Amino acid sequence: MIPISQLRLGTAVEDKVLQVVRSGMIAQGPVVAELERGFADIVGAEHAIAVNNGTTALVAALEVLDLQPGDEVITSPFTFVATLNAIIEAGAVVRFGDISTADYNLDAASVAQLVGPRTRAVLPVHLYGQTADMAAFAELTASHDLALVEDAAQALGASFDGKGAGSFGTGCFSLYATKNLTSGEGGMITTNDAATADRLRVLRNQGMRQRYQYEMPGHNYRMTDLQAAVAVPQLTTYPEQVKARVVNAALLTDLLRDVPGLELPAALPGREHVWHQYTVLLPRESAADRESIVEELAQRGVGSGIYYPRPVYDYACYREHPLVVLPEAPVAEDVAARCLSLPVHPGLSEDDVATVATALRAVLAR
Ligand SMILES: Cc1ncc(COP(=O)(O)O)c(C=O)c1O
Repeated sequence: MIPISQLRLGTAVEDKVLQVVRSGMIAQGPVVAELERGFADIVGAEHAIAVNNGTTALVAALEVLDLQPGDEVITSPFTFVATLNAIIEAGAVVRFGDISTADYNLDAASVAQLVGPRTRAVLPVHLYGQTADMAAFAELTASHDLALVEDAAQALGASFDGKGAGSFGTGCFSLYATKNLTSGEGGMITTNDAATADRLRVLRNQGMRQRYQYEMPGHNYRMTDLQAAVAVPQLTTYPEQVKARVVNAALLTDLLRDVPGLELPAALPGREHVWHQYTVLLPRESAADRESIVEELAQRGVGSGIYYPRPVYDYACYREHPLVVLPEAPVAEDVAARCLSLPVHPGLSEDDVATVATALRAVLAR
């Protein structure tokens, strides 16, 4: 089976982990600091603060905004549920714009219509490894004096007009096991604002700058050196890993271009896409059958994934939630109903990519 994602860590990771194990210091320490520096370099941000996962990265980025009851955060309806859970955990009211079919990301024009007196932050998600339209979001948030928090969980190394994902506002990354760069579980927050970085460092450590000197109610959001040791060696190989994803995505596009009714993803002009996922939109007539398409692909040896089957608000626990304002988001509904992600990871050979394309073609032609 060609898996939808694959983890190959190698001996450099084994060596680094062993080094930490033998050092006798496995909690947050110098290896976390090393990871933070490497991450900041890739993103092009001045500060990077490691935390224990991508969800807590988002919660912390929102908490340092000192949100008051009734304050609103506007985000994408087409995302992993962590984006929504983090806003709720931070205590804000959640509003959703709609998405754009060009990049499946939050559409700035739809957000502009929602900005009101209680809006505090806009939180675009750089889904699948491509940034949202950051020129539009930078402009919109600056002109309304709003915070810009980027859910860059899937987009380490992506860029917009040469600027890294996570360097426009407060960037929130995940290092979960399936991400392009991983520590098993882990998160990172990036910012160019020294005061924000300072507050985040205190917040992640129980609100302590110095032991038992509490400056704010905080959390234990710390990452360990053991986790960082898994990730640090991947910093060096990251550019070539992304290049392999770019090559695989281009090959998939070549091989699938002429399939009738199939909509293919594209890197938009001025954006560097890191292809965390290669997600197609199935032809409308096949989409109702998506589950059986997934099964038939599996029978042909091809793993696939549905990220994500419904807009994130479309579950009873959110539809009835007092902090969630339900949107009209017809584009998100259509995209969620038709999306299908295909393997694009660096572990694929050219033959594997051809197998993926041939299988999809055959399943859709049946
Ligand atoms: C878009 C998005 N946001 C947030 C997260 C949360 O990250 P984590 O799973 O590390 O908490 C993820 C990853 O799982 C994600 O894909």
